[in-house]
Amino acid sequence: MTDRADGIEFRFNGRSVTARPGQSVAAALHANGITALTVSSKYHRPRGIFCAAGRCPNCLLNVDGRPNVRTCTVEAERGMDVRSELGRMHAAGLRGIDLVGPLFPVGFQYRYFKRPEWAYRIWENRLRRTASHTSLPVPATAVPPARRLASELAVVGAGPAGMGAALAAADAGLRVVLVSRSASLGGAAQPLEGDSVLGRAAARLETAESVQILQAATVVAQFGTVLAVDGGREAMRIEVRESILASGAYERLLPFDGNDLPGVMLAGAARRLLAQQGTRPGRRVAIVTDNDSPYHLVAELLAAGIEVPVIVDLRAAAELEQAQATLDAGRPVRVEPAARAIRAGGWQRVRWLRARSATGHALKIECDAIVISGGWQPADELRRAATGYGAIVLESHGAEAIDWQSESAVTSVVLQGAGSVVGARSALEAFYQGQIAGLQAASRQGRDVGPALERARTELRRAVGS
Ligand code: FES
Repeated sequence: MTDRADGIEFRFNGRSVTARPGQSVAAALHANGITALTVSSKYHRPRGIFCAAGRCPNCLLNVDGRPNVRTCTVEAERGMDVRSELGRMHAAGLRGIDLVGPLFPVGFQYRYFKRPEWAYRIWENRLRRTASHTSLPVPATAVPPARRLASELAVVGAGPAGMGAALAAADAGLRVVLVSRSASLGGAAQPLEGDSVLGRAAARLETAESVQILQAATVVAQFGTVLAVDGGREAMRIEVRESILASGAYERLLPFDGNDLPGVMLAGAARRLLAQQGTRPGRRVAIVTDNDSPYHLVAELLAAGIEVPVIVDLRAAAELEQAQATLDAGRPVRVEPAARAIRAGGWQRVRWLRARSATGHALKIECDAIVISGGWQPADELRRAATGYGAIVLESHGAEAIDWQSESAVTSVVLQGAGSVVGARSALEAFYQGQIAGLQAASRQGRDVGPALERARTELRRAVGS
């Protein structure tokens, strides 16, 4: 799906690679058949795109001299120099270490090389180079002081909930900082249709004077009313009155042998590659799941010309009726209920999946990608950290859930959750939940939000069908 005609050329380990405009470095490498991006520390097993959301260590590469960059969050630029952290040793060159893995069982430590002392001087350098994967830039660049910002409200996360919160709070008169991990708005809901609720909200946010959007930035800590932000090339310190946590949820992995091979990825990653990056996860994609979400992905995979040979579902057949109803009857996909993935195999990339059916039969499925979904858990690290600082944490579980007025008198540090981090199941539910949280923050700070709050509650009830 990469169009080389108007592509962007960059270099990977000295080789020329073409990316589509707007494509991330990791997605461009995947599209060009470079699926092993890094390796594990000990056995040097290859690693490829796994989350495509900046939330794992699988795509760390050196970009223009900056070590350990999560390249699934970095847009490819013309002339970029991207290198494997292993220097000239490409991930493939060290794959053989895994074959002698049984010689280095769990508990084997590099410190065993310390005796005799004279030999350690030789080993140390070699072991560090092989295991640490990177070296710091030389000469070291001075770290500039953190840029200082101040705002009445910080919204952490720019998915549907964060967009709803920022827009509603700004409309109610607050100055808002919106921190987005990616370079564009919408989170997992991207790409946003221009005339949809989310598309219109994104367009308004981009021109809203009272909203400052920090793109490709991550809130790494909250100390009372101060947020510490890693902006990639600079650090920021944001003084806020309140924060809204709209940081989403992590998709969980399912355990089986070989689930770390390149080509094995979360369902959310496959969706991002297809919908946002114009990149196929693979040509033949097997699915392993214990929930409905990958069933919704099947139509997108088939529409992109990708074969889906099997869905291995841990749940019993009786629990799958609703999920199977979402599949296109005209393009049947084999579903194995009450089945289990046993092992994925391949060298630099997954080539097959072994599973056991409900009746105990062994299945072997040829594939070059496996999409996994083991459900979701909240990305709520900041909430837990803020609780440690005595912050009042409010959760937006629904339209009416929060008795915030009694809380606001207690402390000036308020962190409120909205969206999938507190259980929203659809983009619109998250968006209106975010709106309510944004309006409640504005109300706590003395703005009149009465009619807007009622409207948002009505829309939320409509979105969840109650
Ligand atoms: S952080 Fe890039 S694939 Fe997970």
